[in-house]
Amino acid sequence: MFVRLFCTADGRKIAPYSKTENKIDVTGGIMTYIKFCDTTLRDGEQTPGVHFGTAQKLDITKRLSKMGVDIIEAGFPASSVGDAAAVRAVAEASGRGELHGDPVISALSRMIRSDIDAASEAISPANRRRLHIFIATSDIHLENKLKITREEALARIKENVSYAKGLGVFDEIEFSAEDATRTDPDFLIEAVRAAVSSGAGIVNIPDTVGYTTPDEFSRIVKSVRENVAGEFEISVHCHNDLGLAAANSLAAIEAGAVQIECTVNGLGERAGNAAMEEIVMALSVRGDVILSGGDKILCGINTREIAETSRMVSSISGVAVSPNKAIVGANAFSHASGIHQHGVMASRSTYEIMDPGVIGLSSNSIVLGKLSGRHAFADRAASLGYSLDTAGIDAAFARFKEIADKKSVITNDDVRAIIGEYLDGLSGMYYLNTFQIQSGNHIKAMALVSLKIQNGDSEGEIVTEAAPGEGPIDASFNAINRIAGADEAELISYNITAITEGTDALGEAKVKIKVGESVFTGRGVSTDVIKASIKAYLSAINKWKNVK
Ligand code: KIV
Ligand code: ZN
Repeated sequence: MFVRLFCTADGRKIAPYSKTENKIDVTGGIMTYIKFCDTTLRDGEQTPGVHFGTAQKLDITKRLSKMGVDIIEAGFPASSVGDAAAVRAVAEASGRGELHGDPVISALSRMIRSDIDAASEAISPANRRRLHIFIATSDIHLENKLKITREEALARIKENVSYAKGLGVFDEIEFSAEDATRTDPDFLIEAVRAAVSSGAGIVNIPDTVGYTTPDEFSRIVKSVRENVAGEFEISVHCHNDLGLAAANSLAAIEAGAVQIECTVNGLGERAGNAAMEEIVMALSVRGDVILSGGDKILCGINTREIAETSRMVSSISGVAVSPNKAIVGANAFSHASGIHQHGVMASRSTYEIMDPGVIGLSSNSIVLGKLSGRHAFADRAASLGYSLDTAGIDAAFARFKEIADKKSVITNDDVRAIIGEYLDGLSGMYYLNTFQIQSGNHIKAMALVSLKIQNGDSEGEIVTEAAPGEGPIDASFNAINRIAGADEAELISYNITAITEGTDALGEAKVKIKVGESVFTGRGVSTDVIKASIKAYLSAINKWKNVK
């Protein structure tokens, strides 16, 4: 059985209740509370090409808190000045009491004093503060990456966890043994003992490279539980390299883990992290079989916020959700074969194990049209979770008006795409002025593109170039490369999707370019697919030029 926090199955409130306990006595018996620690803003941001600015981190934080996430890992303050500022902004929002349910705010740190100080500085305004401090413990990492012995690793753990504890800033300290699943099991125990005896109250066991399997992971979690004395909670953090992140996380719950680290839509390094929506819905649908003896599981996530949160994270990160993605993919609740359709028409339970309404899926309602005013647009943006400033609303509303002139109805998905495009192109040097394409089935495509180049406060210079290509999109990208001196940029992915149906649908183009080792993403929307593609390409080029 699975129940949402604060409500019993029959809807009565449970109060008072402290989220720090993990066994709760409610009507129906003792339940195990599973905490969700969302790391979309930290590990999710490690997805190639994804970058969240402060405003974006704040919008996502507010949405995660509305969803009921217990801990929000806001970032890695020592990684950059920008990230430290973003973590601080999230902590300040918490300190001002702006976050629903008062989640714990966590910041990542290596076993280095300056990292701990940066985390402490960034997180101090938060109401509930956590340090997440990690060091690799596998021989592969110790020998090849850190180039230290096991003894040195133990010494670093003791010294830095004690130092963090002594600062008195953090309400809780989480220790992670990076690459735990490839660590010698005896040494893992030693590392965890060192962390717990120095003051860590949460022990995270990461499957950093997505290498473990449910049975093996269960044994690792149990061994830590049974061999380390002291008061601590076990957390797990699974990556999805073998597609087992959700399964491994569930196996860990059965073995005694009470905190799950995950990301929205499974964003994250390489194949990503465990997807929050998958684990929450597995607990919701199959909570009866997760804990041996049928013990009951409770968590604080409001499943009805899943769909909206997924869409927002996809829109802000620019990472599309694949149609066959469990729970939040466009096809997750659609039935194509005749036999399935017939069954579902007779009874939805034939082929559906969850009600789409439970994850908050509703039809993509028509919300705005060309007669809608700025106020209605601003209201809609706010209700979708975006907090744009006045200049942001003005700019996004201007785009909305342009699009509404060509497209009679504007849906929530269209509004998200318009705002996503605006957020994506916030700062840059190159702007589309005009373009002209010549293309056909018996001539080589030719594009004439004119860009406005904005340098500092200047009025902007218009530069025009023509270039041939293997079709209109390739030709226009080639013309842009000529203007922006971007021949070294390699286009590594390009796709265009229709946001809604119909010939006047808004097209959303997404591109990824690679320059050296760095990847930059861009997105553009328009009812004209070539224009959407040019805007997306320019947005990626602008991001590259910004870091140059
Ligand atoms: O995957 C990993 O090991 C991590 C740690 C920092 C917890 O992300
Ligand atoms: Zn990770």
